Amino acid sequence: MDVYKTIEPLVQFLDSHRGVGRSIGFVPTMGALHMGHVSLIKESVKHDDITVVSIFVNPNQFNNPDDLKRYPRNPEKDTEICKEAGASLVFLPSVEVVYPKPDTRIFDFGSLDKVMEGKHRPGHFNGVAQVVSRFFSIINPTRAYFGQKDFQQLAIIKRMVKDYKIDVEIVSHPTVREKDGLAMSSRNALLTPEQRKSAPLIAKTLLETRNKVKVYCVKDMLTWVEKTINTNPLLRVEYFSIVDAETLDEIEQWSDTNHIVGCIAVNVGKVRLIDNILFKP
Ligand code: PAJ
Repeated sequence: MDVYKTIEPLVQFLDSHRGVGRSIGFVPTMGALHMGHVSLIKESVKHDDITVVSIFVNPNQFNNPDDLKRYPRNPEKDTEICKEAGASLVFLPSVEVVYPKPDTRIFDFGSLDKVMEGKHRPGHFNGVAQVVSRFFSIINPTRAYFGQKDFQQLAIIKRMVKDYKIDVEIVSHPTVREKDGLAMSSRNALLTPEQRKSAPLIAKTLLETRNKVKVYCVKDMLTWVEKTINTNPLLRVEYFSIVDAETLDEIEQWSDTNHIVGCIAVNVGKVRLIDNILFKP
C-alpha cells in the first residue's frame, strides 16, 4: 500500500484506474484511527475497486487552537491500520499541499450549520466543507463514506453534494461503539482513566430514551437526559437537542416528523464528546 503526500502522483494513479472503469471509494479522516474508521474503510473495500483514505488534521475546522494542538496524531500506526483494513492507498498531505493559498470560500447550508455543533463551534462546518470539497475535487471519488457518529456533519455533506452539484455518492455507516457503549472517537484517548469510566453514561442514557418516548414528551425528555448525565460530576452536557433528522430543526412533539434524532455534546474535563440516537418511527 502506497502513501501519497502530494497531489500529482495521486491524481495520475487514480486517473489510470478510473480510465479502465474502476470505482474509487474515499474515506476522509483526521487520523488517530480506531474501529469506527476501520469499518468505513472496510465498507469501501467491499464496494469499490480502489479505496483511498485521507489522513489530515484540518486546521480550518478547529475553532479552538488548543483542541487543534491536542488532537492525537500517529501517522505511522494509522498507515499500518489502513493497510490491514485493505485500503489501496493513503493520502497524507501537509497543510501547504491542501491549502496552497488560504481557502476563503463561505458555504451556505441554510440553518443546517447554525444549530448544535454549528452553534457551539462557529466556522467548524465551513472548514469541514472546505476540506471535504477540496479532497473531492482532487480524488474525484465514485463514493465517499461517512459515519453517523457525526450526524450533523453527514447531513451537511449530503447537502453540500446536492446544492453544489458534486458528482459523488455519499454512503453513511452506523456508529461503532466500545463494549460499554461509548461511541468510538479519536478523542477518547485523551480521557483520564476516571473520565473514561464515566463516559459510557452518555450512550447508556441515550439508549434509555428509546424506552421513554412513550412516557415523556419531548421537553421532559430533554430535561431528563441532561439531568441524568449531569448527575456524574465529571460530565457536563453542553447541549442535547431532539431534531428532525433531515432539516435538523428542533421538534416540539414526537409526531412532528418520522425521522427523529437526539444529538448530544458533553464536556468531560477538557475533552468534548458527541453522540446521537435515532428514534425509529
Ligand atoms: P474523523 O473524526 O477522523 O472521522 C472520520 C470519519 O469517521 C467520519 O465520517 C466520522 O463520522 C467517522 N467516525 C468517527 N467515529 C466513528 C464511529 N465511532 N463509528 C463510525 N464512524 C465513525 O470527521 C472527521 O474526521 C473530519 O471532520 C473529516 C470529515 C475527515 C474532515 O476533516
